[in-house]
Order: sequence, then structure tokens, then C-alpha cells
Amino acid sequence: MGTGDKIHADSGDPESLSARPSTYERIRNAPTDFHIVARAANEASAESGTHHGRVGPSPRRAARRLAGVDWHAYAECYDLLCSVNPAYRELLTEFGNFVRGAGLRQGAEILDLGGGTGNFFSLGLPRQIAVSSRLIHLDSDSRMVSIAQRKYDEQQLQVRTIRRDAHTFVFPAASLDCILSVNALYAMPNPVAVLRKAFHWLRPGGRLFLVNLGRVLDSADWRAFLLRTNVRDLGVVRALRILLTDGRVIARANERIADAQRVGQFWTHSTEEFGTTLQHLGYELDEIRPVYRGYSDLVIAHKPSVVGPSEHPATPGDLDDRYV
Ligand SMILES: C[S@@+](CC[C@H](N)C(=O)[O-])C[C@H]1O[C@@H](n2cnc3c(N)ncnc32)[C@H](O)[C@@H]1O
Repeated sequence: MGTGDKIHADSGDPESLSARPSTYERIRNAPTDFHIVARAANEASAESGTHHGRVGPSPRRAARRLAGVDWHAYAECYDLLCSVNPAYRELLTEFGNFVRGAGLRQGAEILDLGGGTGNFFSLGLPRQIAVSSRLIHLDSDSRMVSIAQRKYDEQQLQVRTIRRDAHTFVFPAASLDCILSVNALYAMPNPVAVLRKAFHWLRPGGRLFLVNLGRVLDSADWRAFLLRTNVRDLGVVRALRILLTDGRVIARANERIADAQRVGQFWTHSTEEFGTTLQHLGYELDEIRPVYRGYSDLVIAHKPSVVGPSEHPATPGDLDDRYV
């Protein structure tokens, strides 16, 4: 499949709809770059005015989709998630539990890929492990990185922060002991290429802690959940005040994310699809299950000590050519 190829628009008849492969199947069956698939899907839905058999978006909604997610704006109130979203706090606990049992050596190199405002190192990582490891935080958004840096400085945590796109940055092969990435891959243009690079960077036996948003965010469902849990914890007035001020920026970002997921600009997958993709890349899965109220998947995996020739990851130069 070349860059000029397109995924054909839905014909609308039920038979062709049920026969139509999912986005995941298309990626698996016709290996190609994720952004090419996404662009093709966008073109197809733009041409037909429909997407997945539904009536096309309003012009306002379509314009919003094109704008994508403004991580820079989101960064300012991102940390509200720590106080208002119990599902986010659970992910921090999951990471803490994982890392306590991961058996990382003294001086282990740990990378947070798409680390955002640095919550997983500053709040999730037990202090003892944080100070005995070499921490690296990579994120493409400057405001996310500067907020993270401020936290690390406040906590006197030594972290190498890197503001770069995960697709273009290169670590030495087999140099990292552990890579974590939480709800960041889905937003990258070529998440599989990034996962393949991550495999290359891990030492044999190196650990992977991955959470990825796989299902389309349902804003109404999240609003109801956040309202319910915050009214219980904070009372009606405080909960409403928070959710109607900063909470609105988060809600707006979530709507943009959902729009991008619907048009195939962002990667969506089932738990099974996510696991299979990682296995194809050579990772050995230790644990896989839905988290984040079923919207994301958690994978704990490792790079095998001996990598067979068929499972060998692509060299950095090959990264953008093919899906596995
Ligand atoms: C939803 S936030 C998650 C942040 C953090 N992992 C957390 O859970 O708190 C997604 C992050 O991915 C980053 N990101 C998106 N695309 C990226 C890319 N191509 N390279 C590096 N970071 C990226 C964004 O800047 C943002 O900080």
C-alpha cells in the first residue's frame, strides 16, 4: 500500500459494513505507516461525508478535528487530573506497584515516554527507587516539560528532561532498563514505530510499563463519573466550581481526543489487539488488562533475554517503513 492508496469510503450498505475490516485489521493486513492509514481514513470519510456509516461531522466539529489536541494549553491544568480523577490516581498506584516488584538494579535507566507534567516520576515512583535510578523524561511539548522540570526541581529529583518528538529521538541500543509510557502513544502519528524503537532501546530483560488509551473517550460518561466522585469527596459546590472552571479545559481536550480517535487520527484498539501488536514487535507480555475505567489497556512486558532473528527489531533507519 503506497502513500497514494486510500481506504475506500463506506458504501453504507449493511453487508459491506459488516464485511469491512476494523482499522486494526487494515493496519495488520496491509502493513504501512499509521499516519498513512489515518490520512487515508480521513480522506475517505471526508469524501463520503460519512464515517463508520454515520452522518458526517458538522463543519464546526470538522474544523475542531483539524486543530488536534493543544497539549500546550492542556499542560496548564493537566495536574487537575491528580485531584479530580480517581482513575488517573489509580494509574499512579499501578506504576508504583509495578516498579517495586520490577527488580530494577541500582542506577537503572528509566525513560518516561510522553511524560507530560512528570507525575509518574514525581508522584508514582517510590522515592527510594527514584533517587537510585537514572531518570529520563521525554515529551514533545515545551510547557509539559517545563512543568515537569519545576516539579523535579522542587523534589530535588535528578531527571534528564528532553523536549523532543518520540519519533525522531534516538537512544543507544540496549541502553534502557525500563520504559514507561502512559496514555501518550495513542496520540503519536506512528505509535508502532515508536514501540519498535522502544524495543531497540531496551536492554535484554528490560521492562515495559505501558498504558494506552484504546477506546474512544465518551465525554458524557466521564463528566458523569467525575461529577459523581467529586461531589462525594468535595461536596456539590466545590465539585461544580472545579469542573466548570479548569475542568472545562480538560473536557475540551478530551473532546478533541475523541474526535481524533473517531476519524482514525489517533490509534484505537481493543485489549487483544494491543497485546498482539506488542507480541509481534518481540515483547513478551507479563500482564495485560483494561484499566482507566476500561478506556485504556495496561501492559507489563519485557524484552526477551535472547532475541531471535525473526523477532529482531528494525534498525532506526527502517522504523518508518512498515507495520509488523
Ligand atoms: C495525555 S498526556 C499523558 C502525560 C503523562 N504520560 C501522564 O499520563 O500524566 C500525553 C502526552 O504525550 C505527549 N506527546 C504527544 N505526542 C508526542 C510525541 N510525538 N512525542 C513525544 N511526546 C508526545 C504530549 O505532549 C502529552 O504530554
